[in-house]
Amino acid sequence: MSPRLALLAVLLALAGCEQAMHDMYGQPKYKPLQPSPLFADGNSARTPPPGSVPMAQGEAADTASGRHGQMTLPPAPGPALPPDAQGRSLARGEVGERRYANPLPLTASLLQRGRERYDIYCAPCHGLAGNGDGMIARRGFPAPPSYHTDRLRNASDSHFYQVISNGYGVMYPYADRIAPPDRWAIVAYIRALQLSQHAPRDRLTPQDLARLPVTPDNGGRR
Ligand code: HEC
Repeated sequence: MSPRLALLAVLLALAGCEQAMHDMYGQPKYKPLQPSPLFADGNSARTPPPGSVPMAQGEAADTASGRHGQMTLPPAPGPALPPDAQGRSLARGEVGERRYANPLPLTASLLQRGRERYDIYCAPCHGLAGNGDGMIARRGFPAPPSYHTDRLRNASDSHFYQVISNGYGVMYPYADRIAPPDRWAIVAYIRALQLSQHAPRDRLTPQDLARLPVTPDNGGRR
């Protein structure tokens, strides 16, 4: 094919594209609020069928899972907690939030799932034990707070759930990567991590006590 013929073929092909684009712009459609004789009420806008799940609102808005219609509905929150259970100050993001307990039954498999998800999604920054010293923080990302502070020990389960769902300060949200039941599993596991560093003495068995090292910190007493 001569160069001229080739050029002509390309131009014709492009013109074809242009025509197809116009067909797409010009397709029959209703603009918002335009009337339509098709429906008895004369409106082109239809009300969604009962039970429809909105994908442009709420916690699945703009997430891949919301867009693809694979949203898992959050389990109903657990029992409501009093505004400030211990009479101590609330976590920063918790002011004005409603406080709920984890709605999922606390089982070993929930904790195992929580541990697995935590180690994947949270430990890189928060550290495997929740001290805020994960590899990403050690390499320069702003350091997250340790979970082992009074403030976060007293924060409600729902506060952790909110932080995972909506992000917090420089921490971005995980709503599109962690399904709601897994968020609660992670919350349960964080509670276990907190307990692991701060177990009340009277909840330890004699076997646990026997395994405690005797250090100057505890006055030589187990
Ligand atoms: C890329 C690093 C990074 C990852 C991954 C990460 N976080 Fe964070 N997180 C942070 C930083 C940084 C802060 C402190 C943000 C601030 O105060 O601006 C924070 C804060 C928090 C807080 C404290 C909120 C408060 O009230 O002070 C909680 C709880 C938390 N993250 C939970 C999680 C959980 C659960 C996961 C896993 C699903 C997770 N984070 C994953 C970096 C991260």
